[in-house]
Amino acid sequence: MLSSSALGGLLLAVSIGSIWASFDVMFEKFEQLNGTEIVSVKLRVRKYNRTISVLAGIMDLKEVADNNLEVGIRCAYSSKGNNQFNQYPMKIARTKMCDFLNNDWREYYPYFENSSNLPKVGECPVQPMEFYFNDMVLDSNMFPPYLPHGLWRMSISLYRPGVDIPVILVEVYFKVAAVGVL
Ligand SMILES: *[C@@H]1O[C@H](CO)[C@@H](O)[C@H](O)[C@H]1NC(C)=O
Ligand SMILES: *[C@@H]1O[C@H](CO)[C@@H](O)[C@H](O)[C@H]1NC(C)=O
Ligand SMILES: *[C@@H]1O[C@H](CO)[C@@H](O)[C@H](O)[C@H]1NC(C)=O
Repeated sequence: MLSSSALGGLLLAVSIGSIWASFDVMFEKFEQLNGTEIVSVKLRVRKYNRTISVLAGIMDLKEVADNNLEVGIRCAYSSKGNNQFNQYPMKIARTKMCDFLNNDWREYYPYFENSSNLPKVGECPVQPMEFYFNDMVLDSNMFPPYLPHGLWRMSISLYRPGVDIPVILVEVYFKVAAVGVL
């Protein structure tokens, strides 16, 4: 999730349907750094069985979300998994929430629809409610066909229009490794 170039690669991979990710991905950790007064995210990564971890829990949205919020996503990875993160040009530039839900979300929603009740494509404004994640497995096909191996940190920031400091910051950590290694 994903710059226009990364996104372009992703869309191409999806549309021709023959290039599949050559790596495995797995959730590692989830953190909310602030913004619990707007949305309280109680998600955690748990071991599902010996080889798979899943994301589970609830997200309590406490106010209407529409273009009064903007979303931006950036990614960094640590090849040694030692907290020295390098920014990676896979991102979504800051976008108004309804514009995001009408457009980019179309590419990602299919990976969430079976394990959560997140808003459908074009469903905006989003009314206050509790969203759940029911043992979501991270799917490598959601990503561009190549990613460096290591520990990844996806930072999802929500902003008020015209303000540069995010009101909400959540971080999703996941591992990327050669197929069969995780
Ligand atoms: C773990 O669960 C997944 C999903 O149900 C399944 O595909 C996989 O075979 C399981 N692995 C083990 C080691 O049980
Ligand atoms: C979601 O479920 C549908 C129906 O069972 C299935 O066709 C689809 O492949 C699933 N999507 C993902 C990303 O697993
Ligand atoms: C939320 O946390 C991030 C990371 O610590 C910080 O950069 C940002 O300023 C915080 N936002 C507010 C409104 O305090």
